[in-house]
Amino acid sequence: MKRGIFIVLEGPDRSGKSTQAALLKTWFEALGREVIVTREPGGTYLSEKIRKILLDPKSRIEPMTELFLYETSRIKHTLEKILPALKAGKVIISDRFTLSTTAYQGYGRGLPIKTVETLNRIATLGLKPHLTLVMDIPDKVFARRERAGEKLQGADRIEREPDSFRRRVNRAYKTLARRPGITRVNAGRPVAEIQREIRARVAKILKRQAWKRGNKKQ
Ligand SMILES: Nc1ncnc2c1ncn2[C@@H]1O[C@H](COP(=O)(O)OP(=O)(O)OP(=O)(O)O)[C@@H](O)[C@H]1O
Ligand SMILES: [Mg+2]
Repeated sequence: MKRGIFIVLEGPDRSGKSTQAALLKTWFEALGREVIVTREPGGTYLSEKIRKILLDPKSRIEPMTELFLYETSRIKHTLEKILPALKAGKVIISDRFTLSTTAYQGYGRGLPIKTVETLNRIATLGLKPHLTLVMDIPDKVFARRERAGEKLQGADRIEREPDSFRRRVNRAYKTLARRPGITRVNAGRPVAEIQREIRARVAKILKRQAWKRGNKKQ
């Protein structure tokens, strides 16, 4: 059986995560792989309920409460969706994961990064994606983009935050993109060009997995 592969797309709102996730799914399917595209917060019945609470502009949520809600959504997502998919040898592509919590609740809200990352580790049982791509584009490009495939029926609770919050998050992503194990993608380019780069990065991982499998068989 094929080995499972877990890919995460990260970056600020409107950076092109969903667009690239959908294209990557098509590519994997053409290779004969079974693909699950999922998202955070969300991805399971319970986690989608938590998403609604988190994004509801009427919710009044303190930063630490917000952090725990994201992590609660995440642990359910990890246990119920991500781990079983990996075990079954599927490809799982998640629109956002732990880095979002570091960027938004850590850098954006000002919660201690150590606390956020400890909870990230707990909520994922230490699971690390095979590839985390951070979509990086200049701030002014974001303003011109609208969300693909979803009607903008008024901004959600996070999108209603002031520009200063958004700027902190965007800056945080630029810092986080330089971390070891994270892949920065210049997302200010045409969609097809970005997708080509992402596919090339993923192909390297597939090759490494095939090589490891080959070695085990010998
Ligand atoms: N490389 C690109 N160049 C120009 N426009 C793009 C590019 N990628 C995506 N877009 C457009 O920008 C908008 C936002 O893209 P998308 O919804 O994929 O971003 P997102 O990161 O998933 O956003 P959100 O965080 O709000 O869900 C869409 O209208 C999409 O068509
Ligand atoms: Mg999206």
